[in-house]
Amino acid sequence: MSEPLLKVRELKKYFPVKRSLLEAFRKKEERYVRAVDGISFDIRKGETLALIGESGCGKTTAGRTILRLIEPTEGEIIFDGTDVTQLSQDELRPFRKRMQIIFQDPYSSLSPRMRIGDAIAHPLLVHGLAEKDEAKEIALKMLRRVGLTPEDEFYDRYPHHLSGGQRQRVVIARAMVLKPEFIVADEAVSMIDVSMRASILELLESFKEEYNLSQLFITHDIAVGKLIADRIAVMYLGKIVEMGPIREVLRNPAHPYTMALIQAVPSIVRRKKEKKLRITGEVPNAAEIPPGCRFHPRCPFADELCRGDEPELVEVSHGHFVACHHPLH
Ligand SMILES: Nc1ncnc2c1ncn2[C@@H]1O[C@H](COP(=O)(O)OP(=O)(O)O)[C@@H](O)[C@H]1O
Ligand SMILES: [Mg+2]
Repeated sequence: MSEPLLKVRELKKYFPVKRSLLEAFRKKEERYVRAVDGISFDIRKGETLALIGESGCGKTTAGRTILRLIEPTEGEIIFDGTDVTQLSQDELRPFRKRMQIIFQDPYSSLSPRMRIGDAIAHPLLVHGLAEKDEAKEIALKMLRRVGLTPEDEFYDRYPHHLSGGQRQRVVIARAMVLKPEFIVADEAVSMIDVSMRASILELLESFKEEYNLSQLFITHDIAVGKLIADRIAVMYLGKIVEMGPIREVLRNPAHPYTMALIQAVPSIVRRKKEKKLRITGEVPNAAEIPPGCRFHPRCPFADELCRGDEPELVEVSHGHFVACHHPLH
């Protein structure tokens, strides 16, 4: 097994909640949105970890904090043996090109006034990796590589000439042109037409093989996670509640939340005879995290213990971890 490229330890990101003038005047205690509330995991070289959970669970905040696009509140981020948590933006520069992000929205992540070829060449110029002509050559090759041909025609187009799927190919090309070792893909196919999702996922997969890329693949859709991930981490209200090899977790989910997410997708696991586990309600506000197990208000198995005591993440089988007082097996 290869070395971890990324180690995340007890990472936290809290956002202060704005107090009203009156609250501040009364010296009411400052409150925080605990968006990421102590998560730890490794990603090995060439491995894809899917980070799954409903909207509002802290996935995007986790991805951005790991890349230091937002500042962590606490914890450690170790990239290829270097603790990058405290590095200044200047010191981060050599790491910036090794870690890239692909955002959800291909419409807002490209500048409307930049030709797409230039958008792909741009990072090479910024990082001083190529002169103008060479950068253009590389961008042309990249356009071809992501299936936007004839590449010299595509080079001169602007984002508004392109479909959502084509734009996401440009976004991927722009991230990959730097030959990164690690990418965070945040809902990279969620806004893409279903008909084009598979080909975009295949494109990411091909880069993963070519560059031995490590990925944190963020998605609310466990079915997408299944297609692309080696391992899965299920996040609920700022914490990882279950983590393990993708097949193992999908076959033998141990956390009721994971089970409910899986059963919400009828096509991936058919257990007709089994009674479906339904959870109701929504993810609570991360400024008001329930005491004890944070999932207990929505959990059909919750008891006194769950209401008072927060469960730790423990290993239930090799590499398979769950944080639950009453795991399903
Ligand atoms: N900049 C911010 N300021 C305050 N709260 C934020 C900020 N960004 C995210 N949050 C809150 O953090 C929680 C997690 O959000 P997010 O990371 O976007 O979750 P996800 O990507 O899983 O949907 C949410 O309650 C969200 O409202
Ligand atoms: Mg998100």
